[in-house]
Amino acid sequence: MSAPAKRSVTITLDGSNKSTTLPLLSGSVGPDVFDIRKLYADLGVFTFDPGYGATASCDSKITYIDGDEGILLYRGYPIEQLAENSNFLEVCYLLLNGELPTETEGKAFELGVMRHTMLHEQLRTFYNGFRRDAHPMAVMCGVVGALSAFYHDSLDIHDAESRRISAFRLIAKLPTIAAWAHKYTIGQPFVYPRNDLTYAENFLYMFHAVPAEEYKVNPILSKAMDLIMILHADHEQNASTSTVRLAGSTGANPFACIAAGIASLWGPAHGGANEAVLKMLEEIGHVDNIKAFLADVKDKDNHTKLMGFGHRVYKNYDPRAKIMQKACHDVLEELGIKGDPLLDLAVELEKIALSDPYFVERKLYPNVDFYSGIILKAMGFPVSMFTALFAVSRTVGWVSQWKEMIEDPAQRIGRPRQIYTGAPKRDFVPASQRS
Ligand code: ACO
Repeated sequence: MSAPAKRSVTITLDGSNKSTTLPLLSGSVGPDVFDIRKLYADLGVFTFDPGYGATASCDSKITYIDGDEGILLYRGYPIEQLAENSNFLEVCYLLLNGELPTETEGKAFELGVMRHTMLHEQLRTFYNGFRRDAHPMAVMCGVVGALSAFYHDSLDIHDAESRRISAFRLIAKLPTIAAWAHKYTIGQPFVYPRNDLTYAENFLYMFHAVPAEEYKVNPILSKAMDLIMILHADHEQNASTSTVRLAGSTGANPFACIAAGIASLWGPAHGGANEAVLKMLEEIGHVDNIKAFLADVKDKDNHTKLMGFGHRVYKNYDPRAKIMQKACHDVLEELGIKGDPLLDLAVELEKIALSDPYFVERKLYPNVDFYSGIILKAMGFPVSMFTALFAVSRTVGWVSQWKEMIEDPAQRIGRPRQIYTGAPKRDFVPASQRS
């Protein structure tokens, strides 16, 4: 819980004799927040904050972002240190449990997760219900939601062991579900998971392998995959995480909640941005066209956005974008891809945008998605899989946040209010009397 109030805010309602004193709560780091829970009872008014830009919706110990400084911490550890020294399953343990595992704990956790990589065989038949050209995110929304129809034994959200098993199942099965969505689209047989591989290796194996040939996982690609997964693992109360929490606050089961998170992630303003960045770069096509493109972006009537730029919280360089940019160069170099035209275009676009007053004044910097599409493309993923990969990586964040919420004794159903601006109460008029 947040620290008890040392300071407070007193609000007096103009034109009335009503006032209230609201406590200021402090977290371990970051700005204080004032607790408005008794505002309506004391003053009879609500707060108005569309988009929740000024509202803390919960108390959380998992991830901290300082958007002005460009800092991202998972359980206190800087993302740069985790990206450099850790691996994805260790980060999963950290996010779920609050501490880095000892070697024994880490091995037991890995074994626990990897034991759950297979899907119930009946789930295979779900895929046949989709068109072959279905977007992988559409397939994932459906198949992940359907997990709740298969794993009845771990649906009791009030039982710690059920929560643990559901967390394992979700983290373990998402790569299988995503890889099979791809296999279904291209008409290749589903490849069953291999638990002797690491989490990232197993995903690449299920995605790329075919039964007819031996497939060896390229260590450069598995290292990059692991890094991408770490960078996307959690990001505090973003749209999809808030969706998961809101769905979970009703008591819905974790599989249904994660399906809701996947739906929310899909949008181009959120996880769909990596796909949108690549499409944008392909549309721009050449550095000579950047100026005209940016003119469109700056034209208010045009509704064109510079995808992969801007962030609700970061008003500085997204620390994940810096790591991703370096990884992108490294991977392309190690794969022997020299002078990738899309990367060259992205670097030039970034340079021009960062010196353009429109972006400077609005503090618009590259976010994690600006470079992730280029690296994923180089790794052989089709554009339509980009957001699905994000969903695979973010599942641990969603599950950790859901679990934290369920374990919070103060948890109650999420239920925002509104300013009603529609018609006041009026009487029904029969159709014959309507003008
Ligand atoms: N291109 C051009 N202008 C932009 C962009 C952009 N990418 N992002 C913000 N702006 C402008 C807005 O038009 C607004 O201008 P105004 O003050 O003249 O009206 C100003 O910057 C402030 O932007 P808001 O829309 O208020 O910022 P908000 O916090 O609501 O939106 C968002 C954040 C959705 C991420 C936005 O920056 C955006 O759409 N970016 C492109 C999509 C993207 O890359 N999304 C990925 C985010 S990271 C993630 O989810 C993993």
